[in-house]
Amino acid sequence: MSTNLIDHAIPQEAATILPERITRFPFPFSADSYRYSTNIEPALKPVSTEAGGWGTRLLDIDEHYLQELGERAAVLQRDPSRLQVLPHMRPAVWDAITTLLPIMADEHPETMSFERKGDSCRWQNRLHNLDLEFTAGVDASLPAEPLLFLGSQIQDDIALLDQRENALWLDAGLVTFAADWSLGFDVGMKFLEVHGPVPRVHDEQIITRAQQFLMNLQPGEKYRRTNWTMTVGRRLDTSTETYPEWAQDRSAVVTDPALPDRLHLRVEVQHLIRLPHSGAILFLVRTHLLSLADIARVPAWRERLGRVLAELPPDMAGYKGISRYREAASAWLLAG
Ligand code: HEM
Repeated sequence: MSTNLIDHAIPQEAATILPERITRFPFPFSADSYRYSTNIEPALKPVSTEAGGWGTRLLDIDEHYLQELGERAAVLQRDPSRLQVLPHMRPAVWDAITTLLPIMADEHPETMSFERKGDSCRWQNRLHNLDLEFTAGVDASLPAEPLLFLGSQIQDDIALLDQRENALWLDAGLVTFAADWSLGFDVGMKFLEVHGPVPRVHDEQIITRAQQFLMNLQPGEKYRRTNWTMTVGRRLDTSTETYPEWAQDRSAVVTDPALPDRLHLRVEVQHLIRLPHSGAILFLVRTHLLSLADIARVPAWRERLGRVLAELPPDMAGYKGISRYREAASAWLLAG
């Protein structure tokens, strides 16, 4: 993909040696230990890392674009329950479409464009050879169900939350790359219920504070946060539904000499946006995977991830599903 996607000052040494998958990776740790916090910050703020930087775009497109969208389509074909839209969320879905397509065109003018006159819209996406005219709000004017269509244009998973009765409700989504949860199970739940299984956050009021913050967002406001776990292989679909397909890899990788290439740090860059017309909260989850072998090419990352993994309390490691291999991963990183 084009080099102008890197818009940070990159240390000269790193720029000449490291590929974009490393220089643009949103490495999430700022200390040698990690705990949950209400880590929400304004979107679009540039972040510098030891290898380069990230964060100046809302909708990140990288060299995996077509492959990941192909994977999403295949997941949906096997399991249509990854798409959920409760009937009252239809206006929010259209709000998401008419909010995100212009942003994507602004951020990627070399491959995308969006024009709108009244409700008549034209969307061009040269990565898909797509030139589409549609009418905002008219489902039949799109080539697919509206949220499916949006999910075929952006790499992010999508969730939409309705605000009522002084709470947020997860009432729609297109989630094919969940980190060990299930949209089909969670749809219709309140924000606090969705976070029920997460350890520590309830005692520490993290989720109630986050919900309060989100409920106060003004139309058009955009924030973001990161979250992380680990994954064996470049598998994006680690949802509850496919657990039997990927769970056993977590034991097998421990003694595999190829562990540094197989184990990936999985970072979610999550955006939180108050949609301007429907008032819904749009939650975007963009998943990035980087192998330990690649992480180790940045010495500061190698050491920091090694220490974070060694120090992480057992309840958090257990919840993240990394207990079996985190010691082996940490030992390899710190031996470097
Ligand atoms: C607004 C939309 C959001 C949705 C739909 C959402 C959804 C989820 C889901 C489904 C999980 C996995 C729960 C499970 O194991 O079943 C999760 C985990 C989590 N969420 Fe959220 N979340 C949102 C925003 C936030 C915000 C703003 C915070 C701020 C603190 C947050 C903090 C967390 C934490 C700490 C975890 C545990 C992650 C881990 O250790 O891997 N979430 N979230």
